[in-house]
Amino acid sequence: MTIYRARVLDTPDDPFAGGTLRAEDDCSLVVLDGAVVARGALADVRHHDPEGLVIDLRDGWLLPGLVDTHVHYPQVRVIGALGMPLLEWLDRCALPEEQRLASDDYARLVAQEFCASLVAAGTTTALVFGSHFAGAVDQLFEEAARYGLRVTSGLVVSDRGLPEPLLTTPERAHAEAVALASRWHGVGHARYAITPRFSFSASEAVLEACAGAAEEIGDAWFTSHVNENAAEVAEVARLFPSAAHYVGTYDDHGLLGPRSVLAHDVHATDAELDVLAGRRTSVAHCPSSNAALGSGLFPLARHVDGGVAVALGSDVGAGTGFSLFKEGLQAYFMQRLLADAGLPLTPAHLLHLATSAGARALGLGDRVGDLSVGKQFDAICLRPVRGTELDIGLRHTEVPEEALGKIFALASDADVADVWVGGQQIASGGFIRGHAQSR
Ligand code: GUN
Ligand code: ZN
Repeated sequence: MTIYRARVLDTPDDPFAGGTLRAEDDCSLVVLDGAVVARGALADVRHHDPEGLVIDLRDGWLLPGLVDTHVHYPQVRVIGALGMPLLEWLDRCALPEEQRLASDDYARLVAQEFCASLVAAGTTTALVFGSHFAGAVDQLFEEAARYGLRVTSGLVVSDRGLPEPLLTTPERAHAEAVALASRWHGVGHARYAITPRFSFSASEAVLEACAGAAEEIGDAWFTSHVNENAAEVAEVARLFPSAAHYVGTYDDHGLLGPRSVLAHDVHATDAELDVLAGRRTSVAHCPSSNAALGSGLFPLARHVDGGVAVALGSDVGAGTGFSLFKEGLQAYFMQRLLADAGLPLTPAHLLHLATSAGARALGLGDRVGDLSVGKQFDAICLRPVRGTELDIGLRHTEVPEEALGKIFALASDADVADVWVGGQQIASGGFIRGHAQSR
């Protein structure tokens, strides 16, 4: 048993439904077997462990571990290629790199870099777009397990419209997904996600194979892209003449439900929002990527009003880094730029989007996303680098909402000092377990 004494910020009550930030200046969390078993003033919880260690984190800020609902593992090395729209960026930047993961040795290195980058950013739970190569997906799950990261991922499948080495067949897509799921789904914190890349690169037959694999696995997750870019949307309409819309290309194969997460949805129609709400499918909003690729301004208000759950994704490598603080800030900017059509976001909304909303979208809302009693101790402690604007700003505010606004405006990986997942500390003082160097 360990007691952590800290300034704690979290959002157990959804700010989009009237909830507010929960902020406690001096809060002690009693952690047993990875879970928070008591929470309150030290004097009130000390009896759980009268002689035990109290770890005093009050020089920092304790937040729930961050949740990234859309991030591409094979793209960690190609972050930062600016100046292209989606389809050109895929051709020139992402897809050449993704072909290199055909080599297990190459994939292992990328998996190491990817998982270390998640930890460095304070991300403890992620829905990860995998690789087109089954061996590379094994490498990702193996590396994620070393840290105990809560990773949901799977084999990316496509059977048209991409370079030939990235293509599969419906039969192979089915067989490889089922085999990977048998190795990883439900093992430790790993879960399997059926992952057609996007309808742009999928035939009806491969989507049907995805549905078959989902049925065989039973409780797999599903993820893909939707309505990201105008040229992509137009091509999908041409390729699927009988589908009512882009969302329909997945829905027609029974692929949408509460265990489905679609990335982007920048160009959603009202009819599509109705389908997503009806299926209780979530959307991963990836604002940095949308801005970097010039994809468009995400209609958050229409999603919220339409009853579609939204969480945040970094969309590395079209997104410009792993930090969900940056994504929160970009989401805030984007809503400001939408003026009257935008949804004004408070710091509490941003924390919710980066933690509890993600946990709920991934069906983990009963386990992670906030630091209530009964939840897993997935947490990060921010300790700003001395003398930085964040350090100065946080030392000069007494108001928690203001402090959280400063965190989203200014925090980066360098400020994420400690990271725990399921009570296990995987980064300490900026040093990531198992890695010689601080990042
Ligand atoms: N659509 C299909 N593949 C991708 C990808 O790798 N990144 C983004 N942003 N969109 C995609
Ligand atoms: Zn993506």
